Amino acid sequence: MCQPGNFNFDIIKRKGSVSMESIVVFDSGLGGITALIEAIHAMPHEHFIYYGDTLHVPYGPKDPDTIKSYLDHMMEFVAPYHPKAVLLACNTATVTAADYLRHRYRLPIIGMEPAVKPAIERDGENKRILVLSTEGTSRSQRLHSLVERFDNDHLVDILPLPNLVDFAERLEFDTDDVRADLEAILSSFDLDDYGAVVLGCTHFIWYRDLFLDLLPKGVEVLDGNAATIRQLMRKLNGNICREGAGSLAIHLTGKRREDVMAFLKKTLPMDFSEIPKGHYE
Ligand code: DGL
Repeated sequence: MCQPGNFNFDIIKRKGSVSMESIVVFDSGLGGITALIEAIHAMPHEHFIYYGDTLHVPYGPKDPDTIKSYLDHMMEFVAPYHPKAVLLACNTATVTAADYLRHRYRLPIIGMEPAVKPAIERDGENKRILVLSTEGTSRSQRLHSLVERFDNDHLVDILPLPNLVDFAERLEFDTDDVRADLEAILSSFDLDDYGAVVLGCTHFIWYRDLFLDLLPKGVEVLDGNAATIRQLMRKLNGNICREGAGSLAIHLTGKRREDVMAFLKKTLPMDFSEIPKGHYE
């Protein structure tokens, strides 16, 4: 059901739930904001809940059972907001738990996969492709199967970047430290052999311009956001608000940070309210 305006949290407190349906966008932290921005542009009349598990970020080094338990907690938390779909705007959560969640919950759960297929299918004159991801995604059977399925010419290399998620959570986007970290890691590759770099973690998308700056001219930098939002819209199967004011409510599980709130206010294309900590926890 589509209604104008923001969620009223006092009503949620009193009655236990709201009548409005929402689209939940999930990430371990601030990476999924990049996907949320695209989703808002594509569906400006929708009601979005953004759940960032900043208490537990990074997910990359964590074991699968722990990640699944965090996602179960998220599903419980968002239930009163009547999600009509949950977007896992997190490659690590997708490779670890998308199937698990789909078995447990009866609503569309849309995952996010590194853009390996589009990278292979572009006209790359047989140049190599570098897939950047978290440790968890780089180890996952799901990513390796995806690569095996499409990489007939054995052009794909997978590289975990251990520090970029933490940099992003600290809102360090183009500092000397970030540059030095990326330059050190990329220096072991002959980057002139590469035609494309895939940003296989939503946190890395904040660094698109920096990658373009560090990589040789002509290397394409791809991510999966646009394709994932199209998939989300397909799964909503017409159940998309077409009129009225949209809304956005944000819940970050970690300690409230003024710098993060100021960053979100500056970056997001619409006003938002905060779902306070302690709500349904
Ligand atoms: N943004 C996430 C991803 O796309 C997870 C990063 C992390 O928490 O390690 O993989």
